[in-house]
Amino acid sequence: MYRFQVNGTQHEVQEDQRLIDFLRADLKLTGTKEGCSAGACGTCTVIIDGKKAKACVTKLSQLDGKSVVTIEGLSEREKAVYTYAFGECGAVQCGFCIPGMIISAKVLIDENNDPTPDDVKKAILGNICRCTGYVKIEEGIMLAAKMFRENLPVPEKDTNGNVGARLHRVDAEEKALGTGQYADDIHMDGMIYAKALRSKYPRARVDRVDVSKALAHPKCVTALTAKDVPFNKTGHLVPDWDVLIAEGDNTRYVGDAIALVATTEKKYLDEVLALVEVDYTELEPVVDPLEALKPDAPQLHPNGNVLSRQTLSRGDVDKAIAEAAFVVTNHYSTPQTDHAFMEPECAVAYREGDVIHLHSGSQNVYDDRHEVSRMLGIPEESVKVHSML
Ligand code: FES
Ligand code: FES
Repeated sequence: MYRFQVNGTQHEVQEDQRLIDFLRADLKLTGTKEGCSAGACGTCTVIIDGKKAKACVTKLSQLDGKSVVTIEGLSEREKAVYTYAFGECGAVQCGFCIPGMIISAKVLIDENNDPTPDDVKKAILGNICRCTGYVKIEEGIMLAAKMFRENLPVPEKDTNGNVGARLHRVDAEEKALGTGQYADDIHMDGMIYAKALRSKYPRARVDRVDVSKALAHPKCVTALTAKDVPFNKTGHLVPDWDVLIAEGDNTRYVGDAIALVATTEKKYLDEVLALVEVDYTELEPVVDPLEALKPDAPQLHPNGNVLSRQTLSRGDVDKAIAEAAFVVTNHYSTPQTDHAFMEPECAVAYREGDVIHLHSGSQNVYDDRHEVSRMLGIPEESVKVHSML
């Protein structure tokens, strides 16, 4: 039995689990977000006995006798000040990192309400933001510190929208306080949970997939393979990505899905996934784009390894070059860049009459509707995609 407090309420829990699961699933305190699940991104930051901690790497067994504060546990004054300061400084974009940022800010300001910009930088070192570039967040924390220090009232927000007015985002409050819903925050009574079995190898032929043992597990609702998918391809530009890799087909990266299992409770997903049997023949992976262009490179797709070639020109290029005072010819390349992916790739779906509703973090509801309806072999009108925060 573990005894601890969350936001002033005493809890006694028998079973050990991650603090983030207890907060989000058991207490429905979804203001604490789960990004990386590995202690790296800071979206799950909470306060334990006055110190910052990552809820995704903290177990309930470490909490006996301790006190946890989440974003929901801030006082009304704190909520109002942080919401105003972050809104005023334009520090909130997608908002996924912001509750964790505010918790880090609170720990700093509770100890020192006159921080320097360097103090603020240090305080949020463990919090990644995929959107803002940090400057506005630092300004927001400095403003919040000033408001607490000088006991300033929270000004009325300017909502008239006149030219030159500094407007706060309409969703600044729900994003700052974590009350807005991302796909992973949705809970529906009786919902089931699904997870994909990913490829063991970056490139391999899948010789056999057997889900019979998974299906026999008492908590398993269903286990699906490529045979269950009416149209087994997806892809925005070219539908060349297998939804699930079928027996006899090759995987192209470790993220390729082989099977999908659904369980009545989330905690059984890994146990059931482990029962899916897959036989592979491991193949040499193609890990270098230049190697992939060579004629003798393994062909990853029926049409080869080039997705598309683009030539961009505007106006009469030959004439412009002929008449130019100088002509510079060079080869330019850009580095590969990817943003820090924080929000979990997840979706919640349910059926209402003939319509399947899909709530996801995707920003492109029309592409999603097109691809989901094509994959399921149903009309587009039967799929309604909702883009969450
Ligand atoms: S640090 Fe916990 S979810 Fe990223
Ligand atoms: S506002 Fe920080 S992750 Fe989007």
